[in-house]
Amino acid sequence: MNTAVLWRGARLFTLAGNGPWGAVPDGAMVTEGDTLRWVGPLAELPQPLRAAVGAEHDLQGACVTPGLIDCHTHLVYGGERAAEFEQRLQGASYEEIARAGGGIRSTVRATREASDEALLASATRRARELMADGVTTLEVKSGYGLAAEHEARCLRVARRLGQVLPLSVRTTYLAAHAVPPEYEGRPDDYVDALIGWLPALHAEGLVDAVDGFCDRIGFTREQTRRIFEAARALGLPVKLHAEQLSDQNGAALAAEFKAMSCDHLEHLNEAGVRAMAAAGTVAVLLPGAYYFLRDTTLPPVQALREHGVPIAIATDHNPGSSPALSLQLMLHMACTLFRLTPEEALRGVTVHAARALGLRDRGQLAAGQRADFVVWDLDHPRELAYWFGRNACRQVVQGGQVVRPDESAT
Ligand code: NIG
Ligand code: FE
Repeated sequence: MNTAVLWRGARLFTLAGNGPWGAVPDGAMVTEGDTLRWVGPLAELPQPLRAAVGAEHDLQGACVTPGLIDCHTHLVYGGERAAEFEQRLQGASYEEIARAGGGIRSTVRATREASDEALLASATRRARELMADGVTTLEVKSGYGLAAEHEARCLRVARRLGQVLPLSVRTTYLAAHAVPPEYEGRPDDYVDALIGWLPALHAEGLVDAVDGFCDRIGFTREQTRRIFEAARALGLPVKLHAEQLSDQNGAALAAEFKAMSCDHLEHLNEAGVRAMAAAGTVAVLLPGAYYFLRDTTLPPVQALREHGVPIAIATDHNPGSSPALSLQLMLHMACTLFRLTPEEALRGVTVHAARALGLRDRGQLAAGQRADFVVWDLDHPRELAYWFGRNACRQVVQGGQVVRPDESAT
């Protein structure tokens, strides 16, 4: 049987309920195993539960939020693209580089050449950096293998990450990221191929969701539709890189398939916003890619708000458009660049990020949720969006276990 553990002396920002931040000033939580059993003001802790507590932690008035969820990353890849960054600084555009065989395709070459061990080692390093920032759940996409064997390797590495680290990992199949050289000029044949690889990957338990890149340098709506139909036939949920570089009406298509999320969305139109609202699809905004590509078209944040589309924020960590390794920095940038409020930004990396991954058991501090939370060296969580380049994370609890500071690492 799991011992009940009391965490008291917390200023809780639960993000549950209707009040601002779900604040509970003299807060306490009781965890049992990996679950939150009770959350509320210490004075209201029921006596029988108090009596069952086997261990206690005094958080001494520290500010506590749910564990952060990075719901969009491309963490598994070989190499890096700093030289491409230099090319872009000299005037080449992201699209020009991609069309000339660089961009995603150059990372595909490096990924195919890397051993499984090398891919796991580099992804582990990056995951640890995100975890040091308070991340307890991480989504990882494939999409730099683009061949049956290499997509499988990348997804296995992603799964492995969740086994070697105290981290929940969700995997997304993104073989529809770019057309690989073997299929040059034959994108429809490639779409047939990647649809053909999916059942075996799914049977191996490697796929939690299916994604695509619907854009001028990605895949058309028709190709995306075929991929979504294949996902639906297997009962897999979908998401989409939509309206990043141009408006393809991809979000409306994704909404037809009840997509869990549409991501990027700088060029999203009003009809797309409405379709997402009707389907309950989350808008995942990615300020890192917007910033790093020096984009100037803002996602339609006000329209998303007005139509009640939940907004999530993620790093989009990848070597080409967002080599970002701090979700806290994304909170700041979501506010400065996209004008989110600090509370919207925090909801975007907790409760709405969970929803973008189809997870109902996390994102808030409430009884029955996973015991994933972060203790911050801050007076108020609005400071998460205020400071930048500062890591204010004091302690991370993942599945009821203290994982940071990591005593095994010292
Ligand atoms: O989310 N837009 C497509 N995929 C990535 C970039 C991938 C890359 O440049 O390697 C993104 O921005
Ligand atoms: Fe992405």
